[in-house]
Amino acid sequence: MKNITVIGGGNMGFTYAASIYDSPLEAKIQILEKSKERIDAINSLNTIVAGDDYAVLRDSDIVFLAVKPQIAPDVFKSVKHLLHKDQLVVSIMAGTTIETIQQGLGLDKVVRAMPNLPAQVNLGTTTYVSSPEVSKDELEFIAAILASTGEIIPVASEDQLDRSIGVSGSGPGFVFYMMNAMEKAAHDLGFAPDEAKRMIAQTVEGSVKLYKENNISLEEWMGRVSSKGGTTIAGLNYFEEKKIAEEIKNGIAVCVARAFELGGK
Ligand SMILES: NC(=O)c1ccc[n+]([C@@H]2O[C@H](COP(=O)([O-])OP(=O)(O)OC[C@H]3O[C@@H](n4cnc5c(N)ncnc54)[C@H](OP(=O)(O)O)[C@@H]3O)[C@@H](O)[C@H]2O)c1
Repeated sequence: MKNITVIGGGNMGFTYAASIYDSPLEAKIQILEKSKERIDAINSLNTIVAGDDYAVLRDSDIVFLAVKPQIAPDVFKSVKHLLHKDQLVVSIMAGTTIETIQQGLGLDKVVRAMPNLPAQVNLGTTTYVSSPEVSKDELEFIAAILASTGEIIPVASEDQLDRSIGVSGSGPGFVFYMMNAMEKAAHDLGFAPDEAKRMIAQTVEGSVKLYKENNISLEEWMGRVSSKGGTTIAGLNYFEEKKIAEEIKNGIAVCVARAFELGGK
């Protein structure tokens, strides 16, 4: 039985704690939170225990860092004296490097993970990378923790982890952008908000299902919904003329550049 302590019981920290709690993993999970209201809200669910007594960190096997990166230096200062070398730290903080965490906490075993928001509905995508001090068995256990929220993808380096922010980490924001544009168009075309929502949600979900369940490229799928001289090809040709695909690629590049900037590169 592993003792896991999550520091930061906000959106992501709570999502992970709840997913681990619901999973068959042999783990005892608790949350350390600063906000009294949040502690009360979590404890009122009668599942995971939340509190503000940092001393529990002494007996934790795994410490899961889920606070905002800006406050990481303060958190490091307040918990460093409670931690020891055998413990393993998992961080989902964007931009905070493994080296910064090792120095800040005075330990070696660190896994850096980059989840995304659909983790909240068990359809998350998490990329991750570890320091060499993490053993194969330890990494397997951490991978199982991360997999409790959805898909996991190990990456070879921290640079690759930062690059994954452009595809999966920030990806939901880009998908919502496209859906938002479709929703506005649907309203302009006279569909009621409820109708537009159902049309867009099912169209996206159905397209994703086709993409996931068949070994067919996206270009081929675009071809399959387009007949010569038809409606879909008319819309797609307009997007091509306006270089929308190129601009999406540029937007992703700007996002990745920001991820590197936050990581001090
Ligand atoms: N949300 C995403 O989609 C996403 C995706 C990938 C990575 N991440 C990463 O996940 C991390 C958490 O993001 P989030 O959206 O879950 O943020 P959040 O909802 O603000 O959660 C952070 C929580 O930590 C609490 N906290 C602050 N200082 C603390 C301390 N010293 N000890 C214990 N708890 C403390 C905060 O309380 P107060 O509100 O009172 O300060 C808050 O409840 C961030 O580092 C972010 O980069 C998030």
